[in-house]
Amino acid sequence: MQIGPYALANPVFVAPMAGVTDRPFRQLCKRLGAGYAVSEMVTSRRDLWDSLKTSRRANHEGEPGPIAVQIAGTDAAMMADAARYNIDRGAQIIDINMGCPAKKVCNKWAGSALMQDEVLALDIVEAVVQASVAHGVPVTLKMRTGWCQSQKNALSIALAAQSAGVAMVTIHGRTREQGYRGQAEYETIAAVKAALHIPVVANGDINSPYQARQVLAATGADAVMIGRAAQGRPWIFREITHFLDTGSVLAPPLVQEVRRWLLAHLQDHYSLYGEYTGVRSARKHIAWYLRSLPGGEDFRRRLNLLNDSAAQAQAVADYLDHLNQSMDRIPAAYDASGRLLPDATPCANESDLMRQPTLSLHHEQ
Ligand SMILES: Cc1cc2nc3c(=O)[nH]c(=O)nc-3n(C[C@H](O)[C@H](O)[C@H](O)COP(=O)(O)O)c2cc1C
Repeated sequence: MQIGPYALANPVFVAPMAGVTDRPFRQLCKRLGAGYAVSEMVTSRRDLWDSLKTSRRANHEGEPGPIAVQIAGTDAAMMADAARYNIDRGAQIIDINMGCPAKKVCNKWAGSALMQDEVLALDIVEAVVQASVAHGVPVTLKMRTGWCQSQKNALSIALAAQSAGVAMVTIHGRTREQGYRGQAEYETIAAVKAALHIPVVANGDINSPYQARQVLAATGADAVMIGRAAQGRPWIFREITHFLDTGSVLAPPLVQEVRRWLLAHLQDHYSLYGEYTGVRSARKHIAWYLRSLPGGEDFRRRLNLLNDSAAQAQAVADYLDHLNQSMDRIPAAYDASGRLLPDATPCANESDLMRQPTLSLHHEQ
């Protein structure tokens, strides 16, 4: 699997998720087997580039390459500027988010505008490709299957993008109108893959090794991209790659391994966000890690009362040490064929999604 000049270690990618896939989380996913990671989106609005949020998102210190940055916006010239800005700050691949961004960022419903307005979409793609190829930087595109059921235009946008020089296309198998409702479908992704010669990545509802293999087989896609199922479960990448390579299911991680990964994640998180924001924004990650662990709900409620990073990290360590007295490994998430067990909950449900402060359905793809 190759994006422009970059050969990737494996075809199992972590999806960009605003407020989730920051540098500490991306690094951990890569360490635990993700073949590729795309950063959270950076707005194309120049006046916001100096904001703390954008500068944190454009910070790639110590991240193993290739560094891929997602940009979002509705104006071709601004998007080209955003590509150059991020390339100057170390981006080696530019990803265009074609379903985004929040109304508050662009004052427009760019998601609908872009999937509904193919001329504008193509203008943006061409401008970003032109700005990026001048620096030898490949451009990729992430989109949904279309705007709504009666207007599934992923194929025509993907073909036009390929002609414009895009190096890879990722498709989330839902329409914009669906939000996160219903099931992702993979027929549209298969149709796009069959028509394109550049790599195509399948995304949507992949939450187990079995499902990853099924989606690869059903779509013929070159890679799969995992979003929500990786929240609090960054080891899903090694589980999936192991299954794809060997056909066997990896044993669940040791409690001590989870303790080590989570504590390292927290320290990295506090360093990026600082004490005040770090402690608060770490709570959602901790809650995701704990949601399928015994006693996790109770512990999470108590955790929300702690406002100090040392106390938060110590409480997590104590909880996992205590758990380790009753089990060596965390409970299995998959059966022997790699299917998700009914009581395993590695994926957020719709109501969890709606509660996430960083996520509104117009905010992302
Ligand atoms: C909290 C959250 C934030 C997201 N932010 C982005 C984003 O910034 N850019 C983007 O292209 N997609 C974003 N997405 C969509 C994911 O990349 C992915 O397409 C979607 O979650 C479907 O994949 P999944 O079923 O594996 O989660 C976001 C999704 C979630 C849940």
